[in-house]
Amino acid sequence: MSYEFLTTDRDGPVEYLTLNRPDVRNAFNEHVIAELTGWAAHTRDAAARGELRAVVIAGAGKTFCAGADVTWMSKTVHYTEEENLRDALAMSHMFAAINELPLAVIGRIQGAALGGGAGLAAVCDIVAAEDDAVFGFTEVKLGILPAVISPFALAKIGRSAARELFLTGARFAASRAKEIGLVHTVVPPRELDSAVANHVKEILSAGPEAVAAAKALIPHVWELSLDEARQVTARAIATRRVSPEGQEGLRAFLEKRPPGWSQRLLNTKDTKDTKIQKG
Ligand code: COA
Repeated sequence: MSYEFLTTDRDGPVEYLTLNRPDVRNAFNEHVIAELTGWAAHTRDAAARGELRAVVIAGAGKTFCAGADVTWMSKTVHYTEEENLRDALAMSHMFAAINELPLAVIGRIQGAALGGGAGLAAVCDIVAAEDDAVFGFTEVKLGILPAVISPFALAKIGRSAARELFLTGARFAASRAKEIGLVHTVVPPRELDSAVANHVKEILSAGPEAVAAAKALIPHVWELSLDEARQVTARAIATRRVSPEGQEGLRAFLEKRPPGWSQRLLNTKDTKDTKIQKG
């Protein structure tokens, strides 16, 4: 696939995706939304074929993502209500498509992740950020709402932080983003790529099907009562234990050898440093 506003770079089972509109700090308009949605569909298919096990989402230039393109949004005053609704739904589908990818999604954040950029961080499974990066659900400062991103942001930061941060639109530091669960690793800028590479390495040493199943389990179990969860989780582990991958992982541990899925990687090449366009 070729894109106008994204670049992709495949390194074995890892895809490096870079938002590539650095002049406007990787803000997304309808074209970027369409490309990201298409990319997520291709990535889902590649994961289903067993070709991909992790993706890294980054932004070109000095900023990860400044959220929705304000120029584009200001023009929507000329759209009909139907057209505005269609656009907002398209953005919601984009976030959902990334959120539900059946592999690990790792965010690499430098500079700023604001508005929809913070929403993009929220749909990543693991986020590493530079210690001087700035975050914010800044929409209310523009008189609009962190609406489409709210289900994904709330699932990460919870209601209490949302009540402060959605209402004030205040910008906050990477250390605060880590405290509220939006970010997992905070490092000095020079260590960002190795922090991302460490997260990738951890994922690649885990069973690919187990990673996808663990990811799917989290939103499912969250919505269940304990009684309902008992059935679902017992079935989930029972299925994994007898699966070829589960059997391989258990046997490898007992035989004191690496499991097949990590052996294959050791035999080819180790994960390399993240390959991000510096813009
Ligand atoms: N949409 C459209 N254009 C944007 C943008 C956005 N969300 N964010 C930045 N830009 C544009 C600026 O208008 C500027 O354009 P210009 O060169 O034509 O003047 C260019 O990107 C660079 O922005 P600038 O503010 O000079 O860059 P910076 O590196 O000093 O700061 C940010 C980067 C992201 C911190 C800052 O641009 C910012 O706060 N943007 C607004 C983010 C926001 O509130 N997003 C929520 C949208 S709902």
